[in-house]
Amino acid sequence: MSTEKIALVTGANKGVGLATARQLAERGLTVLLGSRAAQRGAEAAKDLVDAGLTVRPVQIDVTDDASVRQAAEFVDHEYGRLDVLVNNAGMLIRKPAVEVSADDMRPEFETNVFGTVRVIHAMLPLLRRSAAPRIVNLSSDSAIFAKATEKGSMFAHSHESFAYSAAKTAVNMLTVKYANAFLDDPELAHVKINAVTPGYVATDLNSFKGVKSTDEGARASVYWATVGDDGATGGFFDDNGPVPW
Ligand SMILES: NC(=O)c1ccc[n+]([C@@H]2O[C@H](COP(=O)([O-])OP(=O)(O)OC[C@H]3O[C@@H](n4cnc5c(N)ncnc54)[C@H](OP(=O)(O)O)[C@@H]3O)[C@@H](O)[C@H]2O)c1
Repeated sequence: MSTEKIALVTGANKGVGLATARQLAERGLTVLLGSRAAQRGAEAAKDLVDAGLTVRPVQIDVTDDASVRQAAEFVDHEYGRLDVLVNNAGMLIRKPAVEVSADDMRPEFETNVFGTVRVIHAMLPLLRRSAAPRIVNLSSDSAIFAKATEKGSMFAHSHESFAYSAAKTAVNMLTVKYANAFLDDPELAHVKINAVTPGYVATDLNSFKGVKSTDEGARASVYWATVGDDGATGGFFDDNGPVPW
């Protein structure tokens, strides 16, 4: 097996995902820059390649079975394994909680929750072939019960992230369930999976109102994507360490 490390970052054509792709490539990883729009991915990858980094664009729409399967086939054909998967693709639709219907919630669950499972399910056979596989799931501070239930906090009053917060909380539980399942399976016990929150980052997701840069927002993803064998699994972290569920 080559010593080159192969990383796939979904939703990496912009925002936190793009910064994560760049930082991983700067650490010497070969980065597959995932983008649902092939053109946007190609443009983003070109900038990183021009900067001397080893980055290749990969079309992957996390809501589309065929797209995810083709991405897995590409990784298998080109590298035969995957070392790092960052499930970064995400979306937020703001709507006041009391106006949200069940159907309104579907897109956010489709991308943030089912998309994460769809990609993990497709990539797991490739990850298990790695000597040190790492999965990072992007969660959010808005998924933290301790914050949502803290009287007077910003999170206790952000009723417009109803579906998004619930979806990211589901991502947290899936992360724990996967971690436990991997530990109980001798063939997958070497797979580490963690959830991270990037903090409030200035990106399209929040009309650039966030206070952190994308480089700062990518730190936790990059740390847990490259954590050593002594690192945790099944945890929830920001760039300062563990955060409450
Ligand atoms: N910004 C924050 O403050 C913040 C806070 C907590 C958590 N997060 C999480 O961090 C992650 C990155 O968000 P961001 O702030 O960087 O937002 P962003 O700039 O809007 O980027 C989101 C990325 O996800 C991609 N995406 C959306 N739907 C997709 C799909 N079906 N298939 C593949 N890619 C898809 C987008 O692609 P297109 O360009 O094609 O739309 C884009 O590349 C998300 O999971 C988000 O929930 C962000």
